Amino acid sequence: MKSVELFRLQEMYQFRTDVISQVKTETEIRRDLENLYITVKCQEPETINTRSSGDAYAVWQGDNLELMLGNMGEHPWYRHFVLGAGGGRHSIYAGLNDWQGRITVLEDHYWEAEFVIPFRLLGNFDRTLRFNLLRQRTGELQTASKIEYGHDVEVFLEFSITLPEDYIEHGPWIFQVSTDRASIGWETVGASETKLEIRKQGDTEYDTVTECAVSNNRKLRRVHLDGLEPDTVYEYRIGYADGEFRTMKAETDDFSFLLLADTHDDAVRFSQIIQHPEIRDCEFAVYLGDMLTSSLDRSLYYDSFLDSSVKYWKKPFHYMRGNHEFRGCGKGAFRELFGRGHYVFHHGGVMFITFEVQGDLPLEAKRRWDEEQEAFLKELVETPEFKNARNRIVLSHVAPLMADDSEAHAAEKIFRHFPAGSIDLFLSGHKHSYSYIAPGADVIESLNVKRFSGRPTLVHDYPILVAHYGGFMRVERRGNMLTVHSWNECDQKLDVKQFPLK
Ligand SMILES: [Fe+2]
Repeated sequence: MKSVELFRLQEMYQFRTDVISQVKTETEIRRDLENLYITVKCQEPETINTRSSGDAYAVWQGDNLELMLGNMGEHPWYRHFVLGAGGGRHSIYAGLNDWQGRITVLEDHYWEAEFVIPFRLLGNFDRTLRFNLLRQRTGELQTASKIEYGHDVEVFLEFSITLPEDYIEHGPWIFQVSTDRASIGWETVGASETKLEIRKQGDTEYDTVTECAVSNNRKLRRVHLDGLEPDTVYEYRIGYADGEFRTMKAETDDFSFLLLADTHDDAVRFSQIIQHPEIRDCEFAVYLGDMLTSSLDRSLYYDSFLDSSVKYWKKPFHYMRGNHEFRGCGKGAFRELFGRGHYVFHHGGVMFITFEVQGDLPLEAKRRWDEEQEAFLKELVETPEFKNARNRIVLSHVAPLMADDSEAHAAEKIFRHFPAGSIDLFLSGHKHSYSYIAPGADVIESLNVKRFSGRPTLVHDYPILVAHYGGFMRVERRGNMLTVHSWNECDQKLDVKQFPLK
């Protein structure tokens, strides 16, 4: 969304006087739906003192800007953010990771700064905010409002701010895309009805889709679209938000996808991976579970990876739960967000089969859940869809790895139903250590030899790979060859493996 201008200030007072400073400071405040953007342009006839390069109190060692945002109400409040011409920052009320402040221009007699302050850092406000700015420069302290001290919220300048009552706060995200299907989800601030409009690129009219799953608070919506055409760009609109996605290809010999697992709430690492140059051209991503450590509610999904996926990845993803997403009451949150985590999708003649085995549930519930997974597989292998697929790749957070591991045996109980020769590659995570079992091999090769080497539960006729904790994989198909490139948590390349498609 484009930002909206809220406030402009062309001049500042000398502190505790009625005198307007001759040294010009211009301020502009804008907003979008998440943040306030405060730009400050500072003329400086003297030498700019950039000793304000350190964070915390060191920021007062040189020229700086102190921004105060607050409001009155029953309990007046304000938040305070300091940014030095040298780039140092300080805030009493917020962590330095929670807001941004940067020097955008630094010339001989002029500097410019930008603050980005998320609304979530601010206290309550209803259509107005109060603001003050202090500018410390050589021999002068300037102030925007005629305050006695820094804290007089009552005499701060006031500007009006109206946020739309309803807008998309999270999403839209595109997921579970196959050759003929796709799903779109989004969550709004209000609970008013929103509809999805969709059309094939090139068509003039949109079709309106009103059938969707709605969460209890009526803010989250999830649409499953069927009957789409393969390798086709679809454009969608949800209110003012719009975008497009491409369905998977029925036929192609070349494709690549990103796979990552076990980021465990680390949104920073997640964001690094999905912006990595090595996977930029991948057509889709697979988030293979344990993206959160426990899923108490939807906000943890947004914070851990989903908001970052929307912001940086933008392309379709497939997401299935690891064991950790079953902790807390997250089964409900996951289902509201994504529906079902075990399903199939197709791309380039390859059938991808996703599972969610061995969730962290009480033992009886865990057994029942695995029985559902087993029933899903037993039914699937009898379908023409399975039988007619040229190749098949399995995506499951937990793999049937070690012979002395009850979890691996539970997984094996399910995966034993794959007919011999039907699987080309099994991709997993969970063990936090890059590991490999070659087809027909009776040994696990692992980076963490002490914990994860040994014998597999059974000898399989397909290769099993385990993604590294905090790392990622690029899976590439070129003609009849699958190549899996693996990186670790520090972006160091671990391995390249090749598997001819059967
Ligand atoms: Fe796990």
